[in-house]
Amino acid sequence: MNTIICGLQWGDEGKGKIVDYLTETADVVARGQGGNNAGHTVIANDTKYILHLIPSGILWEGKSCIIGNGVVMDPVGLCKEISNLEEAGIPVDENKLLISDRAHVVLPYHRELDAAREAALGKNKIGTTKRGIGPTYADKANRIGLRLADMLDEATARELIEIRLNEANSTLEKHDLPTFTVDQVWQEVSPAIERLRPHITNVIPALHSAWKAGKTILFEGAQGSFLDVDFGTYPFVTSSNTTSGGACTGSGLPPTAIERVVGVCKAYTTRVGSGPFITENDDISAYFHARGMEFGATTGRPRRCGWLDMVLIRYACMVNGVTDLAVTILDGLDERESIKVCVAYDIDGERHDFPPANRAAWDRAQPVYEEFPGWQSDTTSARSWDELPDNARAYLTRLGKLAGAPVSYIGNGPEREQTIVV
Ligand code: IMP
Repeated sequence: MNTIICGLQWGDEGKGKIVDYLTETADVVARGQGGNNAGHTVIANDTKYILHLIPSGILWEGKSCIIGNGVVMDPVGLCKEISNLEEAGIPVDENKLLISDRAHVVLPYHRELDAAREAALGKNKIGTTKRGIGPTYADKANRIGLRLADMLDEATARELIEIRLNEANSTLEKHDLPTFTVDQVWQEVSPAIERLRPHITNVIPALHSAWKAGKTILFEGAQGSFLDVDFGTYPFVTSSNTTSGGACTGSGLPPTAIERVVGVCKAYTTRVGSGPFITENDDISAYFHARGMEFGATTGRPRRCGWLDMVLIRYACMVNGVTDLAVTILDGLDERESIKVCVAYDIDGERHDFPPANRAAWDRAQPVYEEFPGWQSDTTSARSWDELPDNARAYLTRLGKLAGAPVSYIGNGPEREQTIVV
């Protein structure tokens, strides 16, 4: 069944683990958006892997992985990721990893432009991962970006880089940031391009022949629905469509090929970077950080933590067309005496079931909570719904009702086996 997996919060929902679990029955695993701002942590055979650009299907034998046109590709970062995998004994050859020749390339000046933009925003900064993601997508929309196909020909690449640098350097100069020459850029990225050359291709025929042959294609979403440039907490978002539609525009597989959308959320909420977070709670943040949990996989930043916000999940289920919910890190709440869930926002005395678009309304929104008794027992060894404590089952059942989608998967620990199928 062709499936899109997407995050329903602000990223870091534990999608990597659900992707890894569903990959067992998939033939092709694809990415359609984001870049190495993402960090997917997967534990397989007692080894922890953090993947940024490569779909986690790479950890399996006999699966092909596709990086689609909608991804922004840092060639040097990708090569590092490939080397790490190869050092761990996981081969990455051109049959196993195909990269779209239409994917836009993150170049060194994009990272500096990202820093320049953040500095200019001052206290209103987005809190980006500084991976150059926003400027690369901006160049794509502005029609001044370079695609991998352009990078395969040195003369074309140098010419396009030179045109772009004329403007980029003057912006960087204004911010006292390093400027670049074409040679510098080319020397930094060309060895990586050479390493990647055999993987770079038109991925459409491969994707479509897999579809037509009845193979199973799995899309691994990066980030979460509220970082979506259209549906998220704009402007505190990333620059791609992280919701399910992005998988189609970012790969070339049409919506008619998609049969299932699995929406992943944590049993609570986290966010890294700036922006509204109605259920944020210092006590919950301190609780997770004291346990060494909830530090960013890409930047190591402590994540902001809070109660589950069903106003977000309800909306994300609608936008993504979620057919199945996956609730992760249920065990994170094992010790809590009581658990709150936000079911609506109160904005100026009015109840709202959906998130506002208005920036000022976010500042005034107050959470309306339902409170549940905790289960205060270890759920990590449960292997079925029936083995979960009654209070955990009640919590999950209510969650599914509020979301309008059934809870089909529950994550209760980092290992592959700690996934309960309902
Ligand atoms: P950018 O994607 O680096 O431009 O960052 C924009 C916003 O998205 C910032 O708030 C980042 O912290 C957030 N962000 C980007 N990628 C991820 C992710 O994979 N997990 C969580 N937050 C992310």
